Amino acid sequence: MANLWSGRFEKEMEDIVAQFNASIPYDQKLYACDIQGSIAHVTMLAKQGIINDDEKDKIIATLKKIKDRIAAGEVEFSIRQEDIHMAVEGLLIEELGDVGKKLHTARSRNDQVAVDTRLYMKEQIREILESLFFMERVLLEKAEQYADSLMIGFTHVQHAQPVTVGFHLMAYFQMFKRDIERLQDAYDRMNYCPLGSCALAGTTLPIDRNLTSDLLGFKAPTENAMDSVSDRDYLIEFISAASISMMHISRLAEEFVWWNSQEFSYIAIDDSYCTGSSIMPQKKNPDMAELLRGKVGRVYGNLIQLLTVMKGTPMSYNKDFQEDKEGLFDTIETWKSSLRIFAKMMEKTEFRLDMIAQHMKKGFLNATDIAENLAKLGMPFREAHEVVGKMVKFCERHNKNFEDLTGAELQEIDSRLTPDKLSDLSIAGCVNARTSFGGTAPPEVRRQISAGQNWLEAQENTLSETR
Ligand code: ARG
Repeated sequence: MANLWSGRFEKEMEDIVAQFNASIPYDQKLYACDIQGSIAHVTMLAKQGIINDDEKDKIIATLKKIKDRIAAGEVEFSIRQEDIHMAVEGLLIEELGDVGKKLHTARSRNDQVAVDTRLYMKEQIREILESLFFMERVLLEKAEQYADSLMIGFTHVQHAQPVTVGFHLMAYFQMFKRDIERLQDAYDRMNYCPLGSCALAGTTLPIDRNLTSDLLGFKAPTENAMDSVSDRDYLIEFISAASISMMHISRLAEEFVWWNSQEFSYIAIDDSYCTGSSIMPQKKNPDMAELLRGKVGRVYGNLIQLLTVMKGTPMSYNKDFQEDKEGLFDTIETWKSSLRIFAKMMEKTEFRLDMIAQHMKKGFLNATDIAENLAKLGMPFREAHEVVGKMVKFCERHNKNFEDLTGAELQEIDSRLTPDKLSDLSIAGCVNARTSFGGTAPPEVRRQISAGQNWLEAQENTLSETR
């Protein structure tokens, strides 16, 4: 089969060249967007009198048929078609002959691939936003369920201060909230139409780029044709946003793995989200959490791959850019499936509050509270810190908790210490007292939850309104 560009060639491509050159094995995903772009393009060509209405109608009807045939799996693609753009155009010409050959007027594959990818990304971003919203909804529900449940707060993986499970989960709500905002931001920046930029410099034909931009649902046409065919920033931004979000997923997954361990036993992951061992009959492994922790690796890889592909490429289009797609598609799939799996696994995860309570007895979680109470009574905080540090040393030496210290022992530690100065030492008391804005006291966590619910609802409404 001769290529659509074969006019100036005397020889056909060798097979290994055709193989190496082709993107059709993976860019066929773009077929619907490619056809959507072509329909807008010929609509505009007819409106501008560049082709006639009869030609336009024939092209559009045939493109729709081709789309249905591809969707039904009736089209077998070949390496010789090179990419999805030439495959669709070739099918059109096969059906319509000379009329089909008019489609590529005032257009190049360079602006075509750019518009196809942006259309595809706009759809995919909407789906990923929906998955992020689902994740957020589950976090809000679980945070609500555990708003009063005591939990150990760590720094350096050391017992630090008591918090609630709801508070801990709301920390992740904030991370995914920023992920959503980053993605919305990337969406807004990619919402410009490159179609009509042609090969790199625009065209002598009287096209109307505002019309194609409107027809395709973009905010406006891109400003500079050379930039439009050379720009892959929007994909790099998308994969960066994905990398950050996958890092958040990985952090929460890591917590799930150790919370689920024998040593911690803070949670019980549902059987349906775990696997067994082929040799050790007793095992129930948190494989989903481990995979979720590890999936971030490929997304970081995809980010560095694309940054490296783009580095040092001169203006304007270069074939290097074809290397943008496989990592992109992998990123989309990985991010989407990770969010869905995690949200569903979390829905089915129960916190084992009895086990958490057991662990809470260790580690002097209320030490800061005693120091803060001494500060409230007038002792400079640095001194209070020192005094409570001595209490810890004493307790460790004598294998005691703060609660066990007698008045005489307190006096021995520091003459200013009396039992009445120790305030409410209970863990619940410590948590309830952290009422500062953003703190862990249950009413404050409930405020965070309700602010989160309002915010999420607004995002969900905006997304459905722009459908
Ligand atoms: N398959 C190509 C890509 O993905 C389409 C653009 C090809 N343009 C060209 N002038 N060879 O980048």
